[in-house]
Formats: sequence, structure tokens, C-alpha cells
Amino acid sequence: ILYLANFSILNNYCFMAEIKKLEKNNTYLKVLWSDGEESRFNYLWLRDNCPTAHDKDSNHRMFNILNVSKEINPKNYNINKEGKLEIEWSEGNHTSYFDLNWLRENCYTIKNKKKYISPYKLWDSSLKDEFKSICVEHDEIMESDNGLIKWLELLHHTGIAIVKNAPIEEKSGFAVLNRISHTRETFFKTPFEVINIPKPNNSAYTAHALRNHMDLPWFENPPGYQFLHCLINSADGGESSAVDGFAVAEYLKHNNSEIFNTLTKVYLKFRDKDYTQENHRGFHAPAIGLTKDSDYHDIRFSVATMDALDCHPDIMDKVYKAHHEFGNLLHSDKFQINFRMEPGDIFSFNNRRVLHGRTAFDPNSGHRHLQGYYMDRDEIIGRLNYLKK
Ligand code: OGA
Ligand code: ZN
Repeated sequence: ILYLANFSILNNYCFMAEIKKLEKNNTYLKVLWSDGEESRFNYLWLRDNCPTAHDKDSNHRMFNILNVSKEINPKNYNINKEGKLEIEWSEGNHTSYFDLNWLRENCYTIKNKKKYISPYKLWDSSLKDEFKSICVEHDEIMESDNGLIKWLELLHHTGIAIVKNAPIEEKSGFAVLNRISHTRETFFKTPFEVINIPKPNNSAYTAHALRNHMDLPWFENPPGYQFLHCLINSADGGESSAVDGFAVAEYLKHNNSEIFNTLTKVYLKFRDKDYTQENHRGFHAPAIGLTKDSDYHDIRFSVATMDALDCHPDIMDKVYKAHHEFGNLLHSDKFQINFRMEPGDIFSFNNRRVLHGRTAFDPNSGHRHLQGYYMDRDEIIGRLNYLKK
């Protein structure tokens, strides 16, 4: 008997597949699919993922796996007339009906054989030659989901985008940002005013140059994205810079694995205690964070807010030299791009990947006013996932 199912796989490619054989084993049901793939479905996993386990509205699991024994297994199993995998369990007087599409799409045997593909498109200074490719029109985002998707894809994959021709009224950034989601609040308030002020509590609120940095590295969870909305930029200087920290990390991985290992393993210390705060925030994290797939998770780099390091004396020299090398690459012509923000531009970037900076400006030669917003990474990726569905 051949069991048929329709599989909708990522990128909307559909094909028919069939189950050729089911076989009961000690701890799992072996499924042989007609295209030659083989799946092993663990009994506890199957019982835990019975379609009746979840509440229809919240989609939360109501079933509690702790209420069955670790020895639970199928008393009977077959593919029924509706084409579902039907399992009568050895205990609890319960039968589960599994959709074959769901089983195939969630098959962890097949998933674990697949080579990981990174979502990130790494870039270096040659991105400047295709600067237009990272620009999106403000009205396109406001008026169409395709415009919004284009912006979100740039943010997620490339980590940088410039929204062009946004209005230049104060706080007008909210409307376009809310096309994605709500913003992330901090003590700087939303939006934060990037303007030179007397006795600033942050070096961004001066006319000084800012070396490439991320914002708020001393939070456990620094804002995932940052949006700098340019309202006025008529002063001399104040040119922007950006660098892909993941690309620099990748370069080190291939060219200096010892430094790469130091940057991924040693916990650095970041802190903030500006004079307006009744709060001393600090956090330890490596300069390069990795994911479970050894892809890049985040970068922590900020000369201004790195605290007095407290790593072991045996490694302090090595750590400083690695930091030095990393920092120089993060400012090198090979990796950094430079551009000038125009009023109506929203310089948008992954704050935990793309470091940003600016040259000094002359506050007597004209005005410069940016409004800044933050958003968590979950909002960008979650919204993109939703719109792509
Ligand atoms: C900031 C910042 C850059 C600029 O506000 O965090 O880095 O161009 N500003 O003023
Ligand atoms: Zn900044």
C-alpha cells in the first residue's frame, strides 16, 4: 500500500510523496517515504506532538508529557482511510491522528541531515558601489507589503538599509516603523535626540567623531535594530560610516583562527554609568557570539563602553591583541563604507551586527539633527516570517 501526501516545502515548491513502509522499533516508529527518505519518530515526541495537544486559539500545548510514562509506545498503528497516521497508545486510552504533511515538514531526522544555510549576506566596502541596492522608498513601504518585505529582507539578510524620502517632521519615523512593529523603549526615550547638547550623557550627543560601535552593548539583550532618522544635516562633517561585523568575523575565522577563537570564547565586560542614571548597568559577553549552527549571533564592540576588563592574567595580553586586531579591521578600508545622510533618510541597521559611526561635525557651520529609534530583532524576523507566509 502506498500512502499519499502533498508536501508544501519552503519556497512554495510542492510535490507528492508516499509512505512505503512503517516499522515499530524500540523507541521510535521508522517511516520509509517513497522518495527514499527515512524518518525516525520517537514515541515520546509523537505523543507530545499529538494534534490534540494544543489549544486551537493560543496554540499552546495543553497536554503534559509528564502525565504519561517514559515507556509509552504504539499498541496499534496504521495509515487510516483519511490518509493520516493513526496511533493507538499503550496507555491513557488515547489515539493520535497525524497529518502526513505535518510529519514530513517537522521531521527532525531529515532536518538534521540538511546542511545549514546562513540567512546572512556578508558585505565589505564594495557595497558602496551598489549603494542603491540597499535603499527603499519610504512611500513604497507605507503603501505596499512588497515595499515592507523589501525593507525587512534587507534588514535581516544584509543588516543595513536606507529608507529614502521619509518626511522630516519630528517623530514622523513612528509611522513607517510601526509598519513593522512597536519600538523598544530605553531610558534615552523614543525617539532619542541625536543633537549636540551641553553636558551630554552620551558621546553621540556631542559634535565629536564616533568610532564604529554598537549601541547599548552593556545590556543583556541590546536592541536588535537601530533607526537613525535624519531630519537636518547641514553642518560640515558628520559623515556616516558602517561596517559588517559578521563579515569581519568571517574574515578572521579564515585568516586568523587563533584571534577568532579568542573573540568567540573570552567574555569581555561592558558597562554604562552616565551621570543622569541612578543605575549601573553592565554585562559580560564575547566580542563574537555564535549560534547553535556556528553561524554569527551577534557582535559586541564599543570602545567607548568596554569596561576595565577582568579576564585571567594569563590571557589578558592575547585578549587585548585580539581586540586590537578586530577593531582595526572594523575600521579598515577593506570593510567600512562611508556615506552622508540626507534629510529624509532613515539609516536602519542590525545594531548587533553592523557597527556604525560618524565623523566630527562643526556645529557652527549649520545644524544636524537625527532622531533615533530601536526595535528588537524578534520584531523584524517575526514580521518577515509572517509576511512571507
Ligand atoms: C548614536 C550614533 C550617529 C550619528 O546616536 O548612537 O551613533 O551619525 N549616532 O550621529
Ligand atoms: Zn550609536
